[in-house]
Amino acid sequence: MSARSLRGFRDLLPPESELFARIEARAREVFSLYGYQELRIPTIEMKELFVKSTGDTTDIVEKEMYAFTDGGGREVAVRPEGTPGMVRAYIEHNLGQTGRNSKFFYIGSMFRAERPQAGRYREFEQIDAEYIGNPAPAADAETISMLLDLLGRLGVEGCSVELNSLGCAECRRNYRTTLLDYLRARRERLCEPCQGRIERNPLRALDCKTDGPWLSGEAPKLQLCPDCAAHFADTQRLLGLAGVPYNVNPNLVRGLDYYSRTVFEVRSTLLGSQDAVAGGGRYDDLVKSMGGPAAPAIGWGMGVDRLAMLLKDKPQPDTAPKTFVIAAAKEAGDRAFELLAALRAAGVSADFSNFALSLRSQMRSADKSGAAYALIVGEDELKAGTAALKPLKAPGEQTAVPFAEAPARVKQLLGA
Ligand code: HAM
Repeated sequence: MSARSLRGFRDLLPPESELFARIEARAREVFSLYGYQELRIPTIEMKELFVKSTGDTTDIVEKEMYAFTDGGGREVAVRPEGTPGMVRAYIEHNLGQTGRNSKFFYIGSMFRAERPQAGRYREFEQIDAEYIGNPAPAADAETISMLLDLLGRLGVEGCSVELNSLGCAECRRNYRTTLLDYLRARRERLCEPCQGRIERNPLRALDCKTDGPWLSGEAPKLQLCPDCAAHFADTQRLLGLAGVPYNVNPNLVRGLDYYSRTVFEVRSTLLGSQDAVAGGGRYDDLVKSMGGPAAPAIGWGMGVDRLAMLLKDKPQPDTAPKTFVIAAAKEAGDRAFELLAALRAAGVSADFSNFALSLRSQMRSADKSGAAYALIVGEDELKAGTAALKPLKAPGEQTAVPFAEAPARVKQLLGA
């Protein structure tokens, strides 16, 4: 057996794992400021859920989904994205009836069998926000500015917001016909997958990595109906009021089928080819199409792995234990063990190695741990009811501290 992870799957090791935890903690703070509640949804759902909502012609569903038949003969899939599962949960548990705004966030792994490269993994983490039930442009502007607020608080720099409107189903119906005629006439110029799917979903060609670039310059553009145009204009006005800079990008289509009206992506020039840190948009028809009430909605998903790439060179807080406890005599082990508990009870992080080892060996471990202070209990200390407090990072004398006062003394020193 080889001790190697699967291609495209990776272990998150410290300090990166700690950076993930900090990003998640900051996201939770921001979500509570905006009235969001957490949902935890399953990793595996019925395959049909994704086929019907994300869309059967999307890359995510067509090529990248981990789908299999389970022991009970059910066609299931490991979630490639969270929005369909979240909407299923919203409908299943009548979450629109709770009396509070239906603002939900979830944090977790998504799975897509994409070709792995920097910033693109087969298991990656998303932080997602979904706001169901508010059709007003203020919901669009709030959702996008919350995302920017979070990125700002995390210290992410060099990001731009790309913004577009895909209009309502009616706008797209007209456009679909015009675009399809245009694409049919140029079928031989299209890549093979696009040739195969334009009849089912012509808009996807605009989003195609091969054809998108030339089509964006030449193909006819979507015309918004008066209501969608007003919605888009109001969203932009409110984004302006919220101080969010954005670029209107008519080529932004997004690779998922459920979007309508506002779509957006946050990109970073510092990320190379996988430059989208977050993406989202309105999905006004999805809840109803899945059997729920008519509930317009908007949300986004943020890629934590990519965010971590942007933040990893920033100074990170020191996570080493503040103290390291050492037993310098066989009989001192129990006392040292109690001291560990007392330090932690006082909110001081503490670690140890093995009290049965020599003083030298324990001191070596203390130095390697990065702790600021060692607390040593030996024969003399046991008799005197003290611990020896020794600074490890700065020069200073070892001092004796009464055992019961040791946690408070260390706290005082650490605060100084
Ligand atoms: P998405 O654009 O497919 O949207 O994914 C959102 C973010 O997940 C991307 O911007 C990117 O940062 C990250 N991401 C996607 N694929 C990978 C990958 N293979 N490796 C690393 N990071 C990746 C959605 O999933 C929608 N559910 C977002 C949404 C929520 N729309 C409305 N509500």
